[in-house]
Amino acid sequence: MNILFFGTKKYDREFFEKKLPEYPQLNITFIEANLSPQTATLAAGYKAICAFVNSDIGEQTIEILQKVGVKLILMRCSGFNNVDLEKAKQAGITVVHVPRYSPQAVAEHAMALALIANRRIHKAYIKCRENDFALSGLMGVNFYGKTAGIVGTGQIGRAMAEICRGFGMRVLGYDEYKTESKIIEYVDLETLLSQSDLISLHCPLTEKTYHIICKDTIEKMKDGVVLVNTSRGGLVDTDDLIAGIREEKFFAVGLDVYEEENESVYEDLSDSILQNSTIARLLSFPNVVVTSHQGFFTSEALEAISDITLKNALDFAGGKITNAVN
Ligand code: NAI
Repeated sequence: MNILFFGTKKYDREFFEKKLPEYPQLNITFIEANLSPQTATLAAGYKAICAFVNSDIGEQTIEILQKVGVKLILMRCSGFNNVDLEKAKQAGITVVHVPRYSPQAVAEHAMALALIANRRIHKAYIKCRENDFALSGLMGVNFYGKTAGIVGTGQIGRAMAEICRGFGMRVLGYDEYKTESKIIEYVDLETLLSQSDLISLHCPLTEKTYHIICKDTIEKMKDGVVLVNTSRGGLVDTDDLIAGIREEKFFAVGLDVYEEENESVYEDLSDSILQNSTIARLLSFPNVVVTSHQGFFTSEALEAISDITLKNALDFAGGKITNAVN
């Protein structure tokens, strides 16, 4: 089966190429261009395409993929909120993803963001490099003995809950579907917001969760809360978040994902004038730490992503569908 990999970086090629000898039935072409309505025609002659979190797989892209004969969209990630699933179904295109590769990779990054933003490590690093060893502006708060609130207690949320427990925190959880847990105390969203000192978002982006963090929910949070989002930018209304930061509601904020990230994510724009005002505004606050959607980025996670993506492709080629999302 011929597969066209869109939006690939050096590390994607490196990890997939390592696995390819185990999959001689698959013939893969890697390209740098990301998938969008402008590039979708490149898929002519390929039965399957592979895309990532920052690909545009809306209605228009899917129409073109259907026209050129694509039957399978392989997401080399777990999230698929950027895919028009209904349109893909109508077009007879199967969409599969990687449901689990390393929940710990993302959870560890979430805790890293929480710690860096809370203890102002981002500032301390720069200060020490400048021979400024004064502690002004660096005071943090203990996590030990405090309450963590996990919104979405799936694989990553549970891994984060375990980490928080390891820090000596009480762990509250809010989820549409509760499951048994010895660590997590399930509560409603309002209780979680009003009792948590650290709130970490781990639910998927859906119509229901879009802007789950907004003016109303921010008002319900404790003053001096630490907020971390490693899930999807659309969970947080950025304007309301910025208003909350200005009102000093948040002690610290750590963001691996944010609205409008697709314009810049995974690109080196260090020589460019930043056109995106959301990121510029977020970066202007001393208690906000921003990373570029890198929660998944560990070697263990990339290895698992390559393996599961290629297995998904091989199964499809053999007439079996695994890890379908539509
Ligand atoms: P999962 O499917 O195991 O867990 C998601 C949880 O959210 C489930 O327990 C589900 O019941 C819950 N949920 C769904 N709708 C909800 C709602 N309306 N309110 C509260 N809870 C709700 O998914 P997993 O693997 O834990 O991933 C979570 C998210 O993390 C993904 O959807 C993705 O957006 C993000 N992610 C980010 C990465 C990064 O690099 N920053 C990498 C991988 C995933």
